Amino acid sequence: MGVLYTAIQHAHSGLRWIVLILLIAAIARAYSRRRSGVLYPGKDKLALFAFISVHLQLLLGLLLFLWLSPYGIAADPLEGGGSAVAKYYNYVHWWAMLLAVAIVTIGYIKAKKQAELNKGYKTIGVYYAIGLLIMLAAIPWPFYSGLESVGWS
Ligand code: HEM
Repeated sequence: MGVLYTAIQHAHSGLRWIVLILLIAAIARAYSRRRSGVLYPGKDKLALFAFISVHLQLLLGLLLFLWLSPYGIAADPLEGGGSAVAKYYNYVHWWAMLLAVAIVTIGYIKAKKQAELNKGYKTIGVYYAIGLLIMLAAIPWPFYSGLESVGWS
């Protein structure tokens, strides 16, 4: 179990960079295509890859949160147990990331339905940007002084 926990923890940590890069690339492309008046073709490869990476991250996060991580639901902070770090994951990280994934998902699906209206790229740009901002805020960055002060290293 320890090996699996470490492997998934590292995968979840590393995948953050791919998620962030793909989201930024998809947003940049959506804005530039929108500005040059390109019609949304109903699907966009970069937007799709970003969508997939975000859902993979959600899956790894769920495995950690529900099963493997000592900071997840096992710490039982809702019942008053667990460390400050566990409270952070249970009250902040997991809810915020779920919201961010939901917003990206809605954006991708909505854009698909707007293909003929030429609104798809705008929808991708706006929804993905909101999702990205929430993620940036909810990532446990090592420089978060709040987390350092509760023992995060
Ligand atoms: C989708 C965007 C997400 C990003 C970018 C993200 C990013 C991260 C990062 C950078 C860490 C720290 C890993 C480390 O270096 O130790 C982490 C930890 C964690 N994340 Fe996420 N996460 C996301 C979504 C989620 C979701 C949706 C859940 C829950 C369902 C989740 C549950 C966890 C848990 C439980 C940990 C603590 C793992 C441990 O150290 O035991 N994450 N996440």
